[in-house]
Amino acid sequence: MTDIDTELRVSKIQNGTVIDHVTGGEALHVLSIIGIDGSGGETVSVGINVPSDRLGRKDIVKVEGRELSQSEVDVLSLIAPDATINIIREYEVTEKQCVERPEEVTGVLECPNPNCITNAGEPVDTRFEVLSDGVRCEYCDTIIREDLTEHIKS
Ligand code: CTP
Repeated sequence: MTDIDTELRVSKIQNGTVIDHVTGGEALHVLSIIGIDGSGGETVSVGINVPSDRLGRKDIVKVEGRELSQSEVDVLSLIAPDATINIIREYEVTEKQCVERPEEVTGVLECPNPNCITNAGEPVDTRFEVLSDGVRCEYCDTIIREDLTEHIKS
């Protein structure tokens, strides 16, 4: 199938962000990374496991009236390394960014160690070094290897 099929499936947006080429099945994790659970009132369209020439299957997330922070993009890159972030203004793609695996991610993940300084109610942002197979807390050295998305701050 062609990308035209995909476009028909999820209609174009006027202003906001399209996160395209997301690894198939990861769209709901993308929503939690960017802090969308429906309660904020944003208009969001999601395609899950839609056919893609490049990836076979992909997910796509379109959020109206919202742009992403660099730390959200950083965490996103860990679960969707092929994602493309498109900024849409008045129906046109005005910026296109391919995500890159960052050296560290700050602020978006939570350290699972209850004794970590980042869980002590102090005004400290979490910081994780990105490893080839996980992430390491820069404060207490705890490593998260699996189910990264379960450690996204709510
Ligand atoms: N898009 C959208 N609303 C718009 C413009 C674009 O939802 N007003 C979506 C398109 O459906 C596509 C993505 O944003 O999923 C990127 O658009 P575009 O760059 O036009 O598509 P491609 O050239 O296919 O992108 P790529 O080369 O990244 O695959």
